[in-house]
Amino acid sequence: MASKTLTKARTFSRLLSHNNARSVAIWSNVEMGPPDAILGVTEAFKKDTNPKKMNLGVGAYRDDNGKPFVLSCIKKAERQIVDSNVDKEYAGITGVGDFCTAAAKLAFGADSPVISEGRNVTTQGVSGTGSLRVGANFLNRWYTKSKTVWLSTPSWGNHTPIFKHAGFEVGAYRYYDPNTCGFDFEGAIADIKKIPEGDIIVLHACAHNPTGVDPKPEQWQELSKVIKERKLYPYFDMAYQGFASGDCDRDASAVRHFIQDGHCMALSQSFSKNMGLYGERVGAFTIVCNDQEEAARVMSQLKIIIRPLYSNPPIHGARLASKVLNDPELNKEWLGEVKGMADRIIGMRTRLRDGLVKEGSTRNWQHIVDQIGMFCFTGLKPDQVEKLTKDFSVYLTKDGRISVAGVSSTNVDYLAHAMHQVSK
Ligand SMILES: Cc1ncc(COP(=O)(O)O)c(C=O)c1O
Repeated sequence: MASKTLTKARTFSRLLSHNNARSVAIWSNVEMGPPDAILGVTEAFKKDTNPKKMNLGVGAYRDDNGKPFVLSCIKKAERQIVDSNVDKEYAGITGVGDFCTAAAKLAFGADSPVISEGRNVTTQGVSGTGSLRVGANFLNRWYTKSKTVWLSTPSWGNHTPIFKHAGFEVGAYRYYDPNTCGFDFEGAIADIKKIPEGDIIVLHACAHNPTGVDPKPEQWQELSKVIKERKLYPYFDMAYQGFASGDCDRDASAVRHFIQDGHCMALSQSFSKNMGLYGERVGAFTIVCNDQEEAARVMSQLKIIIRPLYSNPPIHGARLASKVLNDPELNKEWLGEVKGMADRIIGMRTRLRDGLVKEGSTRNWQHIVDQIGMFCFTGLKPDQVEKLTKDFSVYLTKDGRISVAGVSSTNVDYLAHAMHQVSK
């Protein structure tokens, strides 16, 4: 009996080691991938013991004490939701209906013909990233004119993998001019004019990430005209509505201008920044159609794309956003809070520029205040960035981008001093 048990145990252990050996072999071809560029910055920041250290890598808003900020309107909405004893049943495939309707109105304007004519197909997405990816998957399945997407140089780091993983080729058009730290309008127009007819072009609706450089209204008009002439398909990414200027309508003006010009666009929205809902993953994806009949067909296929991806999206964050968008009192409070966040960032830009002048810097830092939104492309070179981190414990991405949301009245002078020391 005892020897039988022993044999059984030996067979089991042999099986186990056999299985272990097999699982090692299965993945032996998998190469170690590089760490995420931005999360890598945070990891290094955490290890630094300098009390003056600053993390300007991560794109999340901080209050003037450097702390994460939960909006008061969100806290109130959360309390109301908890008190109303809502159930936790699944949402439909396209998510919380009231949220989708309100998100589309926020983007296009409540009185937009897109809304009144029922031409928008809007689904909740897993924040901005998930919405972009659902859109990319839909386009790859149903957009028959092209399998190439064009991105600005540079663009948000996740755009390329989102579209490549969805099966697209990715091209680039000029956008940022390192000489002026501003928009290369002529370069962009010249490149866009060469994009093959029917291809998809991604546009940052406002607060371009990573550069903070947005086209002026008249430049948007020209872009719209050229994109129409070239018969390109515009895919807007609006991750910062309200966060750029402090005014949600103003920040949506490029999207609305394209609609006025007759473009049938795709649009991704994120509520991470403007509602501070980062980890709740609240976003939306919209396709603007020609008419309701087309919209019904597109909606049916969008559901077929989403169902096997994640079945239906999470409900809590969308309920919060829906309350804040649909309740007049909470909405008013939210608009004030968005403006408060945008204004704090705008104020820090001015203080940083002024601080550099006070330090005695003779460089032109005007772009710090001309750029808009969460990020500033400082124009610092990789060796200067390295020095900033090594000598001053200021952490940022290698391209010289800083998150102005991480700058506060207590550390702005230190940052100005450090930037001057590495750039003089
Ligand atoms: C340009 C752009 N698009 C989309 C996103 C998506 O963000 P999230 O998925 O957190 O909503 C971001 C966030 O940094 C962004 O900067």
